[in-house]
Amino acid sequence: MLFQTTKAHEELRAQIREFAEREVKPIAFKLDQNNEFPTEAVKELGKMGILGLPFPVEYGGMGKDIMSYAIAVEELARVDGGTGVILSAHVSLGTWPIFNFGTEEQKQKYLVPLCTGEKIGAFGLTEPNAGSDAGGTETTAVLEGDHYILNGEKIFITNGGEADTYVVFAVTTPDIGTKGISAFIVEKGWEGFTFGDHYDKMGIRSSATRQLLFDNVKVPKENLLGKEGMGFKIAMATLDGGRIGIAAQALGIAQGAYESALAYAKEREQFGMPIAGQQAVSFKIADMATKLRCARFLIYSAAELKEAHEPYGMEAAMAKMYASDIALEVCNDAMQIFGGSGFMKGMDVERMYRDAKITTIYEGTNEIQRVVIASHLIGRIKTANSGGGGGSKPAQKVGITGARKKQIFKGDPKECAAALAAALKADGHDFSVGIPADTPIVKAERVVSMGKGIGDRENVKLIEDLAKAAGAAIGSSRPVAETLQYVPIERYVGMSGQKFTGNLYIACGISGAIQHLKGIKDASCIVAINKHAGAPIFKNCDYGIVGDLMEVLPFLIEELGLEDKQPAPPMVKMKRPPVPKAPMQPRYVCSGCGHEYIPELGDPDAEVAPGTPFSKLPEDWVCPECAEAKDQFIEA
Ligand code: CAA
Repeated sequence: MLFQTTKAHEELRAQIREFAEREVKPIAFKLDQNNEFPTEAVKELGKMGILGLPFPVEYGGMGKDIMSYAIAVEELARVDGGTGVILSAHVSLGTWPIFNFGTEEQKQKYLVPLCTGEKIGAFGLTEPNAGSDAGGTETTAVLEGDHYILNGEKIFITNGGEADTYVVFAVTTPDIGTKGISAFIVEKGWEGFTFGDHYDKMGIRSSATRQLLFDNVKVPKENLLGKEGMGFKIAMATLDGGRIGIAAQALGIAQGAYESALAYAKEREQFGMPIAGQQAVSFKIADMATKLRCARFLIYSAAELKEAHEPYGMEAAMAKMYASDIALEVCNDAMQIFGGSGFMKGMDVERMYRDAKITTIYEGTNEIQRVVIASHLIGRIKTANSGGGGGSKPAQKVGITGARKKQIFKGDPKECAAALAAALKADGHDFSVGIPADTPIVKAERVVSMGKGIGDRENVKLIEDLAKAAGAAIGSSRPVAETLQYVPIERYVGMSGQKFTGNLYIACGISGAIQHLKGIKDASCIVAINKHAGAPIFKNCDYGIVGDLMEVLPFLIEELGLEDKQPAPPMVKMKRPPVPKAPMQPRYVCSGCGHEYIPELGDPDAEVAPGTPFSKLPEDWVCPECAEAKDQFIEA
């Protein structure tokens, strides 16, 4: 390789640098502070053709090479890391798989508006149980007539909510591992497709990152990307290219920090001379520049290989790993050169220091990049369920909160409340005693917690009454404390909030985002009350009631009793309710909506008695959730 950028590359660089300096740099601090997406700047990039930079002109792209695309990401990230990843996620992750694997119809319908900048793209792969182990995908897509029915959730999705077109990965054939995963093109606005709240991130705060939630989303059959079962390969091939984008983003952030530090070192005087004249500082500058040059060569050479249709997966992984590792080092050195001034909010090195960190984590952690590089060098060594080895074997699934009993009550709210209260009492929870509602969460023996499902503020009275009846303190999910402000901020439970390790956690209207579940994983007993049977919290609880809070909670309050409670004795940590070794009878799952028929519960609404095996259900029995016929259920 005789490496040299062309005049055209440098002209493009100058064009994007001018745009970034004029339109993005002046607002970068504000975007960071406000967690704000640069809508206008992205629209402008669309008009300039940058959103379609490496795609053919016939599809509305600019027909430039991959190196041009890397330069564009680098130049945007040089002033704002968030804007850099918006372009990278749009081009590499949201658009490229449609270009490479889409049919002509899919390209006309989706690729063209993505290239012209009318639409923004995103990529939905990561899930609570499928991060580094991307093959652990749990989102499902079940073919029903002309549509696939999509159910599940994706987390940490860049451009989430802002994007119009999503490439989403879901299991179409369960239990065969990565070969059972397929890719779909999903549009924002389809019924059942919603977004979680904006994540409050450490860095790249101008980029939108949200959860994608799929609740029986009907995806037309023609939106299958590639063939059924090809999804994992599509994801991996897409990430190979995406890693060039992230490497360029890391390089751009580091370049920005380096340039700021160099300028400052020449101007800041100490000991009667600019600090750049001190060897300690000048050596840092020499090291920083050398690392940037190495990273740039790695990135551009991977881009060149991709452009030439040569194998480039290992080189892209090397570029991503190296560029992001050195981005942290360079930003750290830049901050060091700035000294105390660099530590202040509003200084670009402070923002760049925070922005750089994610580049070692997303699109495959740098540990996974090493797995990828090593597997190219050594070959794949199969070991069951280990990253980079035996991903085609499905892993044993245990929820975020560990093995839980998962006894779910459905049907009449009064009977459900009675059954739950009886089960809790049988396990040894004593509801004649209680703790004050404002007991700190970390010290509480019991907590009644509310999520956004509680609705209006006036409904909080129900939670207060339930907390009193259960002798519990009051907690909440993060949005309820932070956005709705129904409780003080120190009462939200979760990975970033308070950890609950006591005996009984009653989650009301909480869907069970991974961050929340991590905050309760050590609870002895978790109870979930939620009207959505598919809410992840049900896979992470000991007892659950599927029902409307407004209907269930009054009965539960009555069951536990609102009379004054005796002060609770010091907490004795209880054991978790025992998890049944195996279900008493096989479970059957509706292929339409994912509803699970649990023989132990029967179907009271259809007058099917508890204990009725699936085989004994009347022939005209239908799924209580979606009215699918009995023969559409499959054994789980
Ligand atoms: N291209 C095409 N196919 C590939 C491939 C590639 N680069 N890598 C693997 N495959 C194929 C394999 O050939 C294999 O197929 P066969 O069985 O037919 O041979 C199949 O995929 C399974 O491969 P592995 O057994 O190697 O898979 P694995 O489960 O062991 O995992 C892994 C490999 C590299 C660890 C992978 O899981 C991985 O890349 N994990 C990281 C996930 C990741 O990068 N996530 C990023 C999310 S997106 C993001 O972060 C975006 C953002 O916010 C900006």
